[in-house]
Amino acid sequence: MMKVGLLTSGGDCQGLNAVLRGVAKTLFGCIPDLELYGIVDGYRGLIEGEWRKMGPEEFSGILRRGGTILGTSRQPFKEMQTPNENNTNKLDMMLENYKKHDFDAIVIIGGNGTHKTAYLLSQNGVNVVTIPKTIDNDVFGTDLTFGFDSAVGKATCVIDAIHTTAASHGRVFVIELMGHKVGWITLCAGIAGGADVILIPEIPYDPEKVVQAIEQRNRQGKNFSIIVIAEGALTKDEADLPKKERNNLYLSPGNRLANALANRLDQDVRAIIPGHFQRGGDPTSTDRLLCSRFGAVAGELVKKGKFGNMVALRGTEIVAVPLGDVAGKLKNIPEDSEFLKQARMLGISLGV
Ligand code: F6P
Repeated sequence: MMKVGLLTSGGDCQGLNAVLRGVAKTLFGCIPDLELYGIVDGYRGLIEGEWRKMGPEEFSGILRRGGTILGTSRQPFKEMQTPNENNTNKLDMMLENYKKHDFDAIVIIGGNGTHKTAYLLSQNGVNVVTIPKTIDNDVFGTDLTFGFDSAVGKATCVIDAIHTTAASHGRVFVIELMGHKVGWITLCAGIAGGADVILIPEIPYDPEKVVQAIEQRNRQGKNFSIIVIAEGALTKDEADLPKKERNNLYLSPGNRLANALANRLDQDVRAIIPGHFQRGGDPTSTDRLLCSRFGAVAGELVKKGKFGNMVALRGTEIVAVPLGDVAGKLKNIPEDSEFLKQARMLGISLGV
């Protein structure tokens, strides 16, 4: 008999259920005496010993359902080894539950923080296989994370809708998109949605350059402009501030920029923040395909006992990457990114 746990951890995204289904279908198909356990609310369930046995039927009809049927929670990595009032810590509680329940392996689905904890578990003897999830697409070692394509689709849909109202009123719109540390969603949705200015955390910007880009459009007879800005984007001045002051800046980046522009332009300026809308709803077919492929390969790694690995997309292939090569690293947009080059060729301002 083989006992396998499944958990989804960190911020949710589209495709989590598709991945769960992919893993479950593969495992039920190749391990006859499998016992599969859904661990509730991510690492919280493993810490507190909350899981339920699941049959194959529970993974039917969920391929296109958003969210996660297991629930999820954020359990910061930095708190994993902090002693609690019972003189234990979350890591020890997870290790104890894993042993007590006699799990053979756990498939862990999550983003960057989740991978740090997964690696810690793996270093402490837990048989782990992970799957990279996040709308932010910032997990190191994989060309793509699942959830990203769906989020870019949602963000592009917002930019499309804003275009028509911006054009009617001749307004400037600032659309703030998700991505605290990296600008993948903003850059990709910005290009796909035809934004005029794209501002990302990797490139601190100059508000005057944004003004110039808008004025240039006005001179060309284009009376409206669309700016997309990542929630982690900073002006050059803001980027020079000490971290504590940066974190305490008043208003969100989109609202700060909209205020600055309203003071400089003789034009209406509006800011909108679609927020968690970007993480909600059904996964796209591209995500469903990636999730199903990730799930199948993760299931196979469990069957073959190849633990301590993350499944990853490299080109068109799904491969296994050691957790030690991935944990604690961030995949941000490199300075020489093709995407940035092509955005510039298209005449998109990056605010510099
Ligand atoms: O990691 C995914 C993400 O949606 C980020 O883009 C965003 O900064 C963050 O999660 C929001 O977190 P929460 O759902 O906890 O508000």
